[in-house]
Amino acid sequence: MIEKIAKMLGEVEALRAESLDEIEALRIKYLSKKGEITALMADFRNVPADQKKEIGIKINELKNKALEKINALKDEFAVAETGNDDLDITRTAYPVALGTRHPLTIVKNEIIDIFARLGFSLAEGPEVEDDWHVFSSMNFAEDHPARDMQDTFFVEAHPDIILRTHTSSVQSRVMEKQQPPVRVLCPGRVYRNEAISARAHCFFHQVEGLYVDENVSFTDLMQVLLLFSKEMFGEDTQIRMRPSYFPFTEPSAEMDVSCTLCKGKGCAMCKGSGWLEILGCGMVHPQVLEANGIDSTKYKGYAFGMGIERIANLKYQVKDLRLFSENDKRFLEEFEAAN
Ligand code: PHE
Repeated sequence: MIEKIAKMLGEVEALRAESLDEIEALRIKYLSKKGEITALMADFRNVPADQKKEIGIKINELKNKALEKINALKDEFAVAETGNDDLDITRTAYPVALGTRHPLTIVKNEIIDIFARLGFSLAEGPEVEDDWHVFSSMNFAEDHPARDMQDTFFVEAHPDIILRTHTSSVQSRVMEKQQPPVRVLCPGRVYRNEAISARAHCFFHQVEGLYVDENVSFTDLMQVLLLFSKEMFGEDTQIRMRPSYFPFTEPSAEMDVSCTLCKGKGCAMCKGSGWLEILGCGMVHPQVLEANGIDSTKYKGYAFGMGIERIANLKYQVKDLRLFSENDKRFLEEFEAAN
């Protein structure tokens, strides 16, 4: 009996298995009701009394060894199956910090959301543009000062290729391909050759709006911009239009909203006036429609353009424009998007 136990102990210690099924087969072979170790224990009854103590201890040892071994084999498979042995134990245990959206992206998405509800779809155009789409098709005279080196970045050796100075170029990109009704919103980055300071940068972001159809009126434009302003700055926001000039709109206007800080009473932000300028707009000039292949006797349109930095400044009171492009995490982490 002692020899049998010793032999089986050797066997158990050498057990190997290739699968969980094989492990189960081993368990049945040794430890089930009809298993070999169970049979040994049944034989224990026939052991002479003077050997009972020694053999009892050995059988127990064997049984425990077999249980241990089978459990150890099972553990190995559990690790292999979940792939846990591939764990990168050098990785930090703490949750990896989520990034935050850029404040300009947050504001841009808010603007897009508001106009999407009014039926505006999105359109985009290239930042490196030609003179036609930025200026000529937008009714800029050949000698218009905006074409000047002071404002426009030219691509060296290609005087016709420039960095767009406004997103109005996308108006042209859309109209040359699509007949009315046109109702698009064009967000994007624009470039101007200006000295960088707290109040100006050589690039910034705009959102352009364009609506062309039959019977479009200036009142439609005002209604849409009033709704936008209330959604963006609050239900009690008011707007006012001041006559202005852009080559591509006639009549043209600049729009103010009631000061978002003092609600129109007059404060440092609105310089005591109670109003803040937020965008340029107007009725699309007939020559712009014609230059882009749209019949100006049949169709009319309105357009508006606003700076995203400007809107973000009014919402968040960011004092220095340069913060938007410096990638300082302490600044960026102050903004949380709802989506
Ligand atoms: N493109 C003008 C600007 O950059 C804004 C504008 C857009 C004005 C559309 C009128 C209509 O200032």
